Amino acid sequence: MKFLRAALVPLVAAMVATACTDTVTEYANRPFNPPVDQLNGFLGYYDVAAQQTTCGNCHASKQGQWRGTKHANAWATLQASGEARPSCEGCHTVSELGNHVGQAAGYKTTGDASYHDVQCESCHGPGFTHASAPDAGTAPLASIAIPEDLASATNGCAECHQGAGQPFAEQWAESRHGYAGVTSPRERDPVTNVCPQCHEGREAIKTKFGVTTVFAEQADPTDYQPIVCAVCHNPHSAANEGQLRAPLAEPSREQICVRCHSREGHPIPGSPTRRGPHAAQGLLVIGEDAGWIPPNFVGDTANKIASSHGTTANPRLCASCHVYMFDVTDPGTGAFVIRSVGHTFEAIGCLDPTTGVPVGGDCALAERNFKGCAVSGCHLTEDDARTKLIAIRSTMNSLTDLMWADTDNDSVMDPTDGGVLPQVLAQAIAAGDSNQINL
Ligand code: HEC
Ligand code: HEC
Ligand code: HEC
Ligand code: HEC
Ligand code: HEC
Ligand code: HEC
Ligand code: HEC
Ligand code: HEC
Repeated sequence: MKFLRAALVPLVAAMVATACTDTVTEYANRPFNPPVDQLNGFLGYYDVAAQQTTCGNCHASKQGQWRGTKHANAWATLQASGEARPSCEGCHTVSELGNHVGQAAGYKTTGDASYHDVQCESCHGPGFTHASAPDAGTAPLASIAIPEDLASATNGCAECHQGAGQPFAEQWAESRHGYAGVTSPRERDPVTNVCPQCHEGREAIKTKFGVTTVFAEQADPTDYQPIVCAVCHNPHSAANEGQLRAPLAEPSREQICVRCHSREGHPIPGSPTRRGPHAAQGLLVIGEDAGWIPPNFVGDTANKIASSHGTTANPRLCASCHVYMFDVTDPGTGAFVIRSVGHTFEAIGCLDPTTGVPVGGDCALAERNFKGCAVSGCHLTEDDARTKLIAIRSTMNSLTDLMWADTDNDSVMDPTDGGVLPQVLAQAIAAGDSNQINL
């Protein structure tokens, strides 16, 4: 991307008052400052003191929303940390990071205050060409993709949101929302198949969160995406906590996780095509239509299973257990702190015994990390939660053993197995009556 224009100054864009939903006309005929980084064409702030972006001169509502996000504070936060040094600046300013520009750019090459903070162009890329001829065809589109090889990220959220201090991309990539979930049915045709609505990123943004706006990956219909950052996070607005696209603290189907984790709450007897309970976790937590109610059941069907973890005592709902942060002091040197940011989405993940960082996979309950249960303030200690889970699992196992204990461990119900059902089976076999039991 190179724009070398001899006569940039003074530049007044011929602004066409085209139809635009984003109140583009409001600032029609506004001049913009010539880009300080002429080589790459980053416009940066129009007014540094007011934090008025040049993009925001026309896209006024986006400017207003963005102003409320932490991205608009990135420079101040860096300075206030008392640790600011040149190596920090790229991610806290408009630079080549987060967009498609491939060489040092923006603040990094100019040190100009108009490039402070994570502005529109951090994600969208340089806007000089677009501002000079503002229409949809010239618009710099942001990318939602995250490359499988994170170290090679040259674009998007992952270029800044990775590294020891903020390993969001690394953890996400290990999670089932990331590349670990590629086995899911995201490749199916979105028109004829509902699966991508929850299993593919672009379709999920549209159908689950109602976002129909443009981004780079929309052009190619086979450019499938996992559940990337921009599925859950609103790039522009902090209207919801954590810049999420939907509320976190609302025990309903509108909640950020329940939107997808709610396909089917109960078994569907006799249906050959439906798999029955399917991502029932959301419904279970909010106590809606989860669990099996026997036909002709007489009783309180309205008051269905309700989880104590879905009440106001646990306002962060799923996130208390599945998205929480903690620091691990590197046990080797004891010198530096590794931050874990909860983006493996595991409630009780397994930790690397050396670094203390979540690694995914399986391990014994004794080795799992129960910090979320304590950090949330719900349980006094990790061990308190661990002990309770072990106890309740043991109770559940005893109860299911009353139904059927697979004594010979062959995963087949034999009349000699323990529990009530094998006795029914034994009776049916003894009576020669195959109608009594249909396995
Ligand atoms: C001079 C006014 C102006 C400026 C400055 C401006 N834009 Fe635009 N932008 C427009 C107009 C006009 C459109 C076309 C709107 C339409 O087709 O509905 C547009 C379209 C867009 C679109 C596509 C929206 C769509 O729905 O197709 C994006 C993305 C965009 N601009 C981003 C930016 C960014 C990022 C900046 C700053 C680098 C910026 N714009 C600066 C006027 C402007
Ligand atoms: C140029 C680097 C950069 C890019 C690109 C970037 N971010 Fe950020 N982001 C930051 C920095 C720096 C902060 C911290 C700002 C602060 O706290 O002052 C931040 C903060 C955040 C926060 C914290 C909000 C909160 O309330 O705590 C969220 C969420 C976020 N970014 C999401 C995203 C998403 C989603 C994308 C991609 C669409 C993205 N970011 C792209 C640098 C970046
Ligand atoms: C690779 C990009 C990148 C670099 C380099 C970087 N940051 Fe950040 N920084 C981020 C992102 C992304 C966030 C927001 C995520 C979060 O809140 O954890 C952030 C958040 C912060 C915050 C606010 C959140 C917090 O943890 O309290 C401070 C302070 C900060 N950075 C300081 C620094 C300092 C000091 C340096 C240099 C030593 C630095 N950053 C270098 C990307 C970066
Ligand atoms: C953290 C990255 C990020 C930042 C910062 C950012 N955007 Fe975006 N923008 C995106 C992504 C991703 C999309 C597509 C998804 C969406 O709209 O939520 C997008 C979409 C858009 C669109 C097209 C959607 C529409 O409503 O027509 C416009 C226009 C736009 N951005 C303008 C801006 C402006 C102006 C700013 C600064 C005030 C800005 N963006 C800041 C990432 C970003
Ligand atoms: C309403 C959202 C939603 C829809 C629609 C949906 N799923 Fe899912 N599905 C999920 C969620 C969330 C999970 C992960 C939770 C879990 O595993 O319990 C999941 C898990 C799965 C798994 C298990 C993944 C694994 O590797 O173990 C399969 C297989 C699956 N879905 C297939 C499908 C198919 C096929 C369709 C379309 C007919 C579909 N899903 C439609 C939300 C949905
Ligand atoms: C499945 C949904 C989901 C996905 C995907 C996701 N996040 Fe998050 N993220 C969350 C939730 C939930 C929180 C917690 C918000 C809160 O507690 O307010 C969060 C918090 C954050 C924060 C704020 C941390 C703070 O300091 O408060 C940042 C930054 C962030 N995510 C970045 C990312 C990035 C970058 C990606 C992609 C690599 C990503 N997220 C993917 C759901 C998601
Ligand atoms: C856009 C839809 C969507 C949203 C939003 C979403 N998920 Fe998921 N989630 C999925 C899908 C699809 C899978 C299964 C992927 C696969 O295995 O193929 C999944 C998998 C998971 C898994 C792993 C399940 C397993 O079997 O290992 C956990 C845990 C999880 N999600 C938690 C959350 C939490 C917590 C939130 C909210 C912060 C959330 N999800 C938001 C779609 C979503
Ligand atoms: C009180 C803590 C807690 C809350 C709240 C909670 N979960 Fe869980 N969740 C767990 C634990 C513990 C597991 C079991 C993990 C294991 O066995 O590895 C689990 C398992 C899961 C799984 C299956 C993961 C796997 O590896 O098989 C999914 C998906 C899931 N939860 C999603 C959600 C969603 C969505 C919400 C909110 C609607 C939620 N959870 C609320 C603690 C919680």
